[in-house]
Amino acid sequence: MTTVNKKDILTIISPDDFHLHLRSGNILKSVIGMSASQMKRAIVMPNLTPPITNTNAARLYREEILSVLPKGSKFEPLMTLYLTDNTKAYDINIAAQTDFVKAAKLYPLGATTNSDNGVSDIKNIYPVLEEMQKVDMPVLIHGEVTRHDVDIFDREAVFIEEVLVKLVHDFPNLRIVLEHITSKDAIDFVLQTSKKIAATITAHHLLANRNDMLVGGIRPHYYCLPVLKRSNHQAALIKAATSGNPKFFLGTDSAPHSKTEKQSECGCAGVFSAPNAIELYATAFEKANSIDKLEDFASKFGADFYGIPYNTTTISLQKQTTSIAKEYKFSDLTIVPFMAGQTINWRLV
Ligand code: NCD
Ligand code: ZN
Repeated sequence: MTTVNKKDILTIISPDDFHLHLRSGNILKSVIGMSASQMKRAIVMPNLTPPITNTNAARLYREEILSVLPKGSKFEPLMTLYLTDNTKAYDINIAAQTDFVKAAKLYPLGATTNSDNGVSDIKNIYPVLEEMQKVDMPVLIHGEVTRHDVDIFDREAVFIEEVLVKLVHDFPNLRIVLEHITSKDAIDFVLQTSKKIAATITAHHLLANRNDMLVGGIRPHYYCLPVLKRSNHQAALIKAATSGNPKFFLGTDSAPHSKTEKQSECGCAGVFSAPNAIELYATAFEKANSIDKLEDFASKFGADFYGIPYNTTTISLQKQTTSIAKEYKFSDLTIVPFMAGQTINWRLV
């Protein structure tokens, strides 16, 4: 049981981020320290250009991340493979023999940023999923259909109905993480299915709904996929995250893009929350009178699902009004964080 002491300090086991975009090259160098200062480990998303589709690429990407870590950092990147129509069972078999590839990510073709090599029909990867089930490697799913006739606010619910129900039926022992869930439909599905199915929840889906993105002007830095939903879904997500149910755990989906790419005629999807990630979650949990549930959600339930030990270090958060930067200017780009210029109630000590 975690408690906040007299000085308003909350100490918890170091958290992990079970869904993080770090990119590569200069962006990676710019953002890595932000996650490394709060998170002990992260499941690193493979949607680079070109995508990380095999163990060799994952090894090189991991080495790149380790090479740019701040001095003395003990941050551990946990790698994932990007599933394509051409992924083979063999690729999974090789990955499963390493200690650093922890999962593979299913992007439906065209669903989100850098998903143009995604899977066009889940049937194409059935042999791959068979192998994943066999070696007990989790498949991480971006759960949205991409058909043009399906409204963007319904795409997660329709994916569950049309794809996920059948997938769970066909692979009863496959471990699945439904990533960055955004709807009550997703919560209900996860609650109804076996212990093999879990979900990550982002800080921005706990702290915002579509009004925050669309009322009084369009705010491109709130645009991500799956898109923010209406407030009843946000309320359901807060309830799920703070419920103490181990099926729900932390995954920021922090996804850095340059300010110019976000603020353009066709702004890209992705919210950058890494600089204040754990403080944002603490703010959301406290608003729900559930700060005592933060440690389980941030530092235990994900590790339990992935079958990795809890971290042996701790972090402390102080209850204190904290301003979020308006933007981060790096040598070659500017990135605007989630809730830029606003205040939150917690600060990493
Ligand atoms: C992510 C990105 O930018 O890589 N964007 C997003 O809106 N979440 C991709 C993803 O996780 O969908
Ligand atoms: Zn993501």
